Amino acid sequence: MNFASGATLRTAREKMGLSQAKLAELTGIPQHMLSAYELQKAVPDRALAARVTEILADVGKVEELARRKKRYRVHSYEPIAHDPVRIARHSRTVGNIEYVELLNRLGTCASPKTRTALSLFAGCGGLSLGFDWAGYAIKGFLELDEGLRSIYRANFVSSVELGGDISLLDEEKIEHAAKDLGSIDLIIGGPPCQGFSLSGKRAVNDPRNTLFRDYLRFVDVCRPRVAVLENVRLLSSMKSPNGGYVRDEIQREFAARGYRVERFAVNAKNFGVPQHRERLFFIAIRSDLNRDPSFPSPTHGAVADDLFRNISPPRTFADACSDLPYLESGEQSNDPLHAAVTHPKHNIEWLWDVEEGYSAHENLDPAKRPPSGYNTTYKRQVWLEPGATVQTTFGMISGCRNVHPIATRALTVREAARLQSFPDDFFFGEALGTMRTGIGNAVPPLLAYQLAAHLASEFL
Ligand SMILES: C[S@@+](CC[C@H](N)C(=O)[O-])C[C@H]1O[C@@H](n2cnc3c(N)ncnc32)[C@H](O)[C@@H]1O
Repeated sequence: MNFASGATLRTAREKMGLSQAKLAELTGIPQHMLSAYELQKAVPDRALAARVTEILADVGKVEELARRKKRYRVHSYEPIAHDPVRIARHSRTVGNIEYVELLNRLGTCASPKTRTALSLFAGCGGLSLGFDWAGYAIKGFLELDEGLRSIYRANFVSSVELGGDISLLDEEKIEHAAKDLGSIDLIIGGPPCQGFSLSGKRAVNDPRNTLFRDYLRFVDVCRPRVAVLENVRLLSSMKSPNGGYVRDEIQREFAARGYRVERFAVNAKNFGVPQHRERLFFIAIRSDLNRDPSFPSPTHGAVADDLFRNISPPRTFADACSDLPYLESGEQSNDPLHAAVTHPKHNIEWLWDVEEGYSAHENLDPAKRPPSGYNTTYKRQVWLEPGATVQTTFGMISGCRNVHPIATRALTVREAARLQSFPDDFFFGEALGTMRTGIGNAVPPLLAYQLAAHLASEFL
């Protein structure tokens, strides 16, 4: 094999019948580096290339490895005994008592509905819930996915369903819907972000990247005083097919419609959400109000930020979840949403001794490391720090930072919902896949609530 060029590496490796993971095992080069060489994103230095070429010259060894079956083809499962030391670490924090009480209170003491809103790309209703708590009547909603629509309907019973695919609604239908709903003070919506996010392919021609234009058709008809458009933070570096930045295009389009618009990059952990979650908000204010858009000030942050403001330390994973029963792999509680996925024995072995904040790929015992992958996978979260960004894949132990800080398993639905600041009485339906999608894609209601209260006091 000629390792001098990454371009030839893949072809040669495939000819030898070696997977990238097996090549990593044989050469001791981490798989992500091999992948970077093969994709020509990185160039190996000459000494490394020469060493690998030499290792691969041992044809017998290469063939033996190529023939070897997958190490973990057979999955076995075993109950996990509770370890008293771990259970002791899982003790309830004062922050948890306050947080759970806050979420319950926001739901039960909702303000009188004195403002009206429309929710587009509504998902299961995270963004809507925060606005509802702050006294907005969500008069109508629109969402493509029927499963998510049914969750939304169950939680926002008086909101009128305007349809599924926004791009199929013609102007007449939008005008008709707007007339039926009456005056709308505010439009909220997070057009799908996969086209812009790192987990997607970030293709400039991804049709999901232009759905914001459909959002604007509602702005044209309803002429709300305020419009809120939310997306992943990476949208700020995304280019559109014409070569410009999508963020500038969004701002230009609002300006052309007579709105002052600004974008705000925020992290949910700075607004009392026990989770690191970066998002970009465009806030547009109708020009006749003669006000510049603004975002509320953070309420939570590092002590260093507390010099002049009354700011609390960020909420942690423990603040979100420490009252929940301790569960190991495959165990259940009385709460149907707090039930742990059952993981195979080898996954448990890889992770059992791995400390908080570390991945199984960093296991001190090399024999207990996954055969391939990156060290953001099979990774434990940290009990006394904000949770990692909740994604739709939070139930997969192999996913990105999905492992509980103390127990050896992926997050339960209840834990993910708590990290996202959904109260326990929010109804998520019965379909596990749909609830995971809804929770992973949602704007944390607590962040939405603070924004909603700010907009109400400043502009509505
Ligand atoms: C990022 S999620 C929104 C989450 C929501 N803001 C929340 O807080 O729960 C985007 C949503 O847009 C929906 N969607 C995608 N394409 C759509 C379309 N063409 N018409 C309407 N909704 C669409 C997706 O099904 C998804 O639920």
